[in-house]
Amino acid sequence: MPENPRGALRRTPVLAGNWKMNKGPLATRSFFDDFCARHGARDDRSIWFFPPAIAVYTAVHALRQRPDIDVGVQNIHWERAGAFTGETSAGMAAEAGARIVLVGHSERRHVFGETDEQAARKVAAALAEDLDVLVCVGETLEEREGGRLEQVLARQIDAALGEARDAMLRFAVAYEPVWAIGTGVNATPADAAAAHAFLRQRIARAANATIAAEVPILYGGSVTPDNAADLLAAADVDGLLVGGASLKPDAFAAIAATPGRG
Ligand code: PGA
Repeated sequence: MPENPRGALRRTPVLAGNWKMNKGPLATRSFFDDFCARHGARDDRSIWFFPPAIAVYTAVHALRQRPDIDVGVQNIHWERAGAFTGETSAGMAAEAGARIVLVGHSERRHVFGETDEQAARKVAAALAEDLDVLVCVGETLEEREGGRLEQVLARQIDAALGEARDAMLRFAVAYEPVWAIGTGVNATPADAAAAHAFLRQRIARAANATIAAEVPILYGGSVTPDNAADLLAAADVDGLLVGGASLKPDAFAAIAATPGRG
């Protein structure tokens, strides 16, 4: 198995902030002035931030004294360069100092029509640049109520795993039920645990049980300082991917301090 460059991260709690289309470079700098004063470096957890692409370089620079915090991009294009107006390549993200790529977030899938096949190509492009990937999967309310939860999760995760078999130590997953994102209605810890167990089985099927046990699976969807501890305590929940509550330094510092499991 190849050595993981950030090996300490495996299955330690990961607290990640996805800023979506919020905060340019100036707001990014002032966020980190505030957040870093509230959250000191700890080696028992990993903190990842996904600012907008235009603020990634600023974030990396603002965090140059904080190797405990990693910066990622929210999206990439799968091509290396060329006539793709408005897009960012994996190589450019790496050059800006990003270490991780978020792939297949539900807003990419449902607002921008991104397919499983496109998400898989993005996984391959990120891994080719030695970036880690955090692949988002999750069902809509209609799919859940129609009894198609496992079918949807299997389709989404299998597409991404197809490109990652040789680089599983760079692979992380976020289970984000679409109905829980930005709605104030989080999944229950039991629902999250069930979905995570299913995803881990799927990873074991594609790789093996030893590798599957090492892959961090984060929960996302209406995480707040109030529900973070219960969600992170659920079986198979290795971290949290936080949207709205990651925009405020005090709220995200509280989430970043959530006690890990045992
Ligand atoms: P939310 O978003 O925490 O605002 O629900 C989560 C996400 O989309 O990653």
